[in-house]
Amino acid sequence: MLPPALAALLAAAAAAAAAAGAAGAAAPRDAASPAAALGAPAAALAAGPAAAHPPWGRARAIAAFERGVDRSRLRETLRNLTAVAHIAGSDADRAQAEAIQAEWAAAGLPNTHIKTYFPLLNRPVSRSLTLLAPERFEATLREPAVDGDDTSRDEEVVPTFLGYSPSGNVTAELVYANFGSPADFAALAARGIDVRGKIVLVRYGSAFRGLKVRAAELAGAAAVLIYSDPAEDGFVRGPVYPDGPWRPPLAVQRGSIQYPTFYAGDPLTPFVAATENATRLPQSESPSLPKIPALPISYGEAKPFLAALKGHGVASHTIANDWQGGLDIEYWTGPAGKAHLFIDNEFAVKPIWNTMAVIEGTSEPDRAIVIGSHRDAWVYGALDPSSSAAVVIEIGRVLGKMHKRGWRPDRTIVIATWDGEEYGLLGSTEWVEDHVEILNKTAVAYINLDGGVSGPNFEASASPSLANLVRKATKEVKDPQTGRRVYKRWNRRAGVDTPEGRVPRVQPLGFGSDYVAFLQHVGIASIDLHFTGDYGVYHSNYDSFNWMAKFGDPTWKYHEALTLIVGRVLLPLAHDRVLPIDFVPYVHELRTYAKDVAAALGGASMPVEWAGRLDASIDVFEKAARKLRKEADQLRRDDADEDDAVVDAVVGSGDGIDAGVSVLTVQGGSDDGLAGIVPQQHPKHPKHPKHPKHRAVNDKLGFGERGFIDMAGIPGREWYRHVVYAPGEWSGYGAEMFPAIHEAIRRGDSAGTDKIIASVAATLRRAAGMLAA
Ligand SMILES: *[C@@H]1O[C@H](CO)[C@@H](O)[C@H](O)[C@H]1NC(C)=O
Ligand SMILES: *[C@@H]1O[C@H](CO)[C@@H](O)[C@H](O)[C@H]1NC(C)=O
Ligand SMILES: *[C@@H]1O[C@H](CO)[C@@H](O)[C@H](O)[C@H]1NC(C)=O
Ligand SMILES: *[C@@H]1O[C@H](CO)[C@@H](O)[C@H](O)[C@H]1NC(C)=O
Repeated sequence: MLPPALAALLAAAAAAAAAAGAAGAAAPRDAASPAAALGAPAAALAAGPAAAHPPWGRARAIAAFERGVDRSRLRETLRNLTAVAHIAGSDADRAQAEAIQAEWAAAGLPNTHIKTYFPLLNRPVSRSLTLLAPERFEATLREPAVDGDDTSRDEEVVPTFLGYSPSGNVTAELVYANFGSPADFAALAARGIDVRGKIVLVRYGSAFRGLKVRAAELAGAAAVLIYSDPAEDGFVRGPVYPDGPWRPPLAVQRGSIQYPTFYAGDPLTPFVAATENATRLPQSESPSLPKIPALPISYGEAKPFLAALKGHGVASHTIANDWQGGLDIEYWTGPAGKAHLFIDNEFAVKPIWNTMAVIEGTSEPDRAIVIGSHRDAWVYGALDPSSSAAVVIEIGRVLGKMHKRGWRPDRTIVIATWDGEEYGLLGSTEWVEDHVEILNKTAVAYINLDGGVSGPNFEASASPSLANLVRKATKEVKDPQTGRRVYKRWNRRAGVDTPEGRVPRVQPLGFGSDYVAFLQHVGIASIDLHFTGDYGVYHSNYDSFNWMAKFGDPTWKYHEALTLIVGRVLLPLAHDRVLPIDFVPYVHELRTYAKDVAAALGGASMPVEWAGRLDASIDVFEKAARKLRKEADQLRRDDADEDDAVVDAVVGSGDGIDAGVSVLTVQGGSDDGLAGIVPQQHPKHPKHPKHPKHRAVNDKLGFGERGFIDMAGIPGREWYRHVVYAPGEWSGYGAEMFPAIHEAIRRGDSAGTDKIIASVAATLRRAAGMLAA
């Protein structure tokens, strides 16, 4: 009864549930019943088979979802998640994975299970940092307790350290290297400042921290200190915690220094899942592991080290203005002084735990939407990631309640809290590598949340094919502060002019979070959503419940608004008879990126007209995207649109302007909030999603992103296969567009550039072919 692909996905989940020995006794295995085969909890089984319930349709599902969302539970979940430190692989981390599974199962979510992987992790055993000359200063490497913040009392619950830094024992002179980019090291070299064998002091900001260490390693440095300059997120920005949201003098940014250049996920198992007995690279051969030790420090403790450089080398501002940071000292490059750094980090392959649930779709069970947030935190992690984990947990709970009452999505929904994101997107990447074939055949979209709420400013990154869906969702949810649509405020802040008018900018996806394997390894269209604000306690002990309650979201209304927006992205994807995906917005993006290629060719004195091949392919792509939009719109018009009538009836404000806008004051109430929604017979649709015509159009919409995948990968880093987007070689967090082309241009490889442009142009044409088929 299940298509083989989904059956395999469910079987994998069953195996995981069995292996984890999770949540009580194993249920009987019965191949004929997917729920039983999964060891699904009794609550889900009691809900009965899907066929017993009339389908709900999108509008009813959204209405039920929005009544179910409970702001006070979002707050309580965040409080629970942040009550203990829960770094990946810790006992507290595992306990949270199990508690979430139990909560989801109790709510009625089917097929809950914990999927365990075994990546390499490191933990700090001991460390010390001492300035020996010109005067002695011993860094405390501690984040002191703060009044009013209960969890800050445990100062060393997770010592300040960097994920994947090797151990080391270095005594050397100091050099200041600004942001630690290759250009910064080149600027030092150009002034005759030798960093070889030195302890290099770099500031956070601009690029991913692992790339700073990589650049230092390539330049020959012996060790790296990365400090948080107040210009970035400290007193220069505003009042510091606990008086304000910004970074206090002794707060330290932990983080991973994995090199993301070659692949994401476990450093020892590229391309394959880090299962218990997977074949592993020797640690010394992993290209994602740094070879020199590094330690993060606060600006309070960086100051004496920076001060020791004064008068040595060159004054930083003579290199460029941005070399002078925000401390009230003159920044000089050195080399000067002498420091001793000692780090003992213990490495081990350890289990991590993704909490998962699978809600089987009724009419298209072999098409899946995946949604997830990571759950692991460096310490307590209120913003990062608990604000988004709380949203995903709440979504799981509400969907579970709906499931109990008979709701079934048309397409399958897979919901996850990932583990090990902080170390290097471990849980999501290993899960994707584990299920790559099934996901390739079934997944039409991935929705990611991470660092969900730190203020009132909505931001989105997404595949352009999903950009309009995100924009539409924000037109349907109110901004808690202004009472107007989130879309309006977003467009005012981040509007850009496009051929389709002024619309809020949807950013390209780079390397920030768990979408990487979905989008860049498999080609699954992805989305990443946040509300942002003033936030200076990133990856410190002070990213705490108290910080969130005082500064991030004191009313919890932005957590609620984010949940509602995600609902209005997820439920249309799961229900709409024609998938709410549109490739036309890709065209404008591609044209912009092709212009950048032309500019880079010119800058490198290569023939600018080579970019013309991209333009020609984009023309073909545009035709295909417009034709597909037309086909999809025609089908939507053909379908009787009963759903909209239901929206008006359930939510209706009737004045036209706000019809369908979520009413933020609707709360869960005394019961689960779903009592008011009585499942009714859904109108019979002459054009069922499985109708051949719908199926063909939906496959083009749902799998169109795969067209951008070149299985040969980016030369030199073949794990990344998307020809349009990859993490920048040296920007890390940020995306680079047409990455292989820019890399060839930067290498000055003219023949290679010519070849790669031809190859990318051919891939774009193939993508067009898939949309036009
Ligand atoms: C929070 O934790 C308490 C104590 O373990 C538990 O009773 C409660 O159900 C939890 N609340 C949520 C929303 O998870
Ligand atoms: C670090 O190296 C120094 C000099 O080689 C040595 O004296 C010291 O014992 C080492 N420290 C540790 C903790 O290994
Ligand atoms: C991994 O290998 C160990 C030792 O051979 C074995 O006991 C265990 O069952 C294996 N695990 C899996 C998942 O195959
Ligand atoms: C996805 O499926 C296509 C078509 O079968 C295949 O060519 C491609 O290699 C698959 N992609 C991955 C990442 O396995």
